[in-house]
Amino acid sequence: MIKFDILSIFPEMFSSPLSFSLLKKAREKGIINISLYDIRDWADDKHKMTDDAPYGGGCGMVMKLEPVEKALSAIRMDDREDSTVILMTPQGEVFNQQIAAELCGKQRIIILCGRYEGVDERIREHLVDREISIGDYILTGGELAAMVLIDAVSRLVPDFLGNPDSKISETFSQNLLEYPQYTRPADYKGWKVPDVLLCGNHAEIERWRKKESLRKTYQRRPDLLKKTRLSAEEGKILNEIKEE
Ligand SMILES: C[S@@+](CC[C@H](N)C(=O)[O-])C[C@H]1O[C@@H](n2cnc3c(N)ncnc32)[C@H](O)[C@@H]1O
Repeated sequence: MIKFDILSIFPEMFSSPLSFSLLKKAREKGIINISLYDIRDWADDKHKMTDDAPYGGGCGMVMKLEPVEKALSAIRMDDREDSTVILMTPQGEVFNQQIAAELCGKQRIIILCGRYEGVDERIREHLVDREISIGDYILTGGELAAMVLIDAVSRLVPDFLGNPDSKISETFSQNLLEYPQYTRPADYKGWKVPDVLLCGNHAEIERWRKKESLRKTYQRRPDLLKKTRLSAEEGKILNEIKEE
């Protein structure tokens, strides 16, 4: 079981994405647990302000330090788990499958979603363990980024997927893109499924899948091949592909 605590000024944004398909089932079965907190609940002034103008001037507003610090202190009062506090920020390390696997080893992940022009730098310096970006572009807030992280980490929690084998071959799990997949019909308007997949010979199918996985990775993401340690057999197949 993994517990996610989300701090946001728009916690309602999470209700729909977390209420469908496998994430919904995983929550119902207690495989993942998600708690949402509204940072405004820890804002002291009567307008529940969570932003203020930047020192030194400039455009936009900055997410205030005190409500975030108070929120974190309150929700961590009972913190006995192996927890980590993550700030979603375009300035963080870029999220990938390896980081998802690392985070899956935690018992509790507390996610802080920024808004406005970002958060007061002292939040980053004193309250956060890790800063994560979901890519080199700017979103209006950290909520969508947090949902991406929750989805990718949750899939790796044992019992989340009906068939755990699907994690073994899928894209990025071994720094390779997954082989092409097909389903019925075998022939649609002359667009045919490769014969090898219909032959019933499992060894041949495995070799074809390995080759097509290597081919896709070589053609589309050669950078991934540099990070993976290929077996002698895979090296031989890759050489075949290069000669074709
Ligand atoms: C408009 S952005 C602030 C960008 C900030 N002014 C900067 O230049 O780094 C507001 C919030 O959206 C979230 N955010 C934006 N882009 C993101 C990304 N690529 N990955 C993760 N979070 C992001 C962060 O929580 C950020 O505090």
